[in-house]
Amino acid sequence: MKFRIRNTEPRDFAEIIEISAKIYRKKTAWTVRELESHLNIFPEGQFVAEEISTGKIVGMSASLVVLWHDYEVKENWEDFTDCGMFTNHDIENGRTLYGAEVMVSPEIRRSGVGKRLYDVRKKLVKQLGLLRTRAGARLRNYHRFAGKMSADEYVELVKQGKLKDPTLSFQLKQGFNVIAVVSGYLPDDPESLGKAAVIEWRNPDKNS
Ligand SMILES: CC(C)(COP(=O)(O)OP(=O)(O)OC[C@H]1O[C@@H](n2cnc3c(N)ncnc32)[C@H](O)[C@@H]1OP(=O)(O)O)[C@@H](O)C(=O)NCCC(=O)NCCS
Repeated sequence: MKFRIRNTEPRDFAEIIEISAKIYRKKTAWTVRELESHLNIFPEGQFVAEEISTGKIVGMSASLVVLWHDYEVKENWEDFTDCGMFTNHDIENGRTLYGAEVMVSPEIRRSGVGKRLYDVRKKLVKQLGLLRTRAGARLRNYHRFAGKMSADEYVELVKQGKLKDPTLSFQLKQGFNVIAVVSGYLPDDPESLGKAAVIEWRNPDKNS
């Protein structure tokens, strides 16, 4: 499948909402109100992957710039994204691109769409002269191991390649490092049980 990555437009909202409702529970799918807010606040940080032959949306990523020192590493997704609205976006003072979302339609996973969405995000970090991009990687397979090990142990095994996690293994492959393992990140997520790895990719053009 051939696809292109472009900035999100209002005409994409219905398809983005449909994909997110398939992946997450309906209650936590993106809403028009949130997606409109992202475009009003920071259109440059919002991307979709579009299948060239059909125009169908097959993936999406959403980001904002945050003043990381305003936040504790242990704060959750709602704090970093102002409950999904991005009204805490601070392009004047912030030096961290916060990845609030990356998702790809289940039917076309492992076709390189997620990688391309991340490549574009890294390019944006460089264009804006930011220090880094950070995100929370929900530990999607942790629920299968929760009775046997802590989230820290789980992350260590994923880093060593002894376990595969559909989210964290993907992000490590994109050159991210784990800087913390946190609880209560997405408290209602039945797969991660709220556990997440805080991950970072540093802009190689910047030293500090
Ligand atoms: C995470 C996600 C965006 C990856 O998208 P994708 O388009 O399938 O990823 P890519 O095809 O670009 O994968 C690139 C590489 O990442 C790694 N990878 C991707 N999915 C993986 C998985 N399930 N397990 C292990 N490694 C994986 C592989 O190394 C892959 O390369 P390969 O296919 O040549 O082996 C996708 O699985 C998704 O939408 N998940 C649900 C939403 C979600 O949880 N998002 C993260 C929120 S924190």
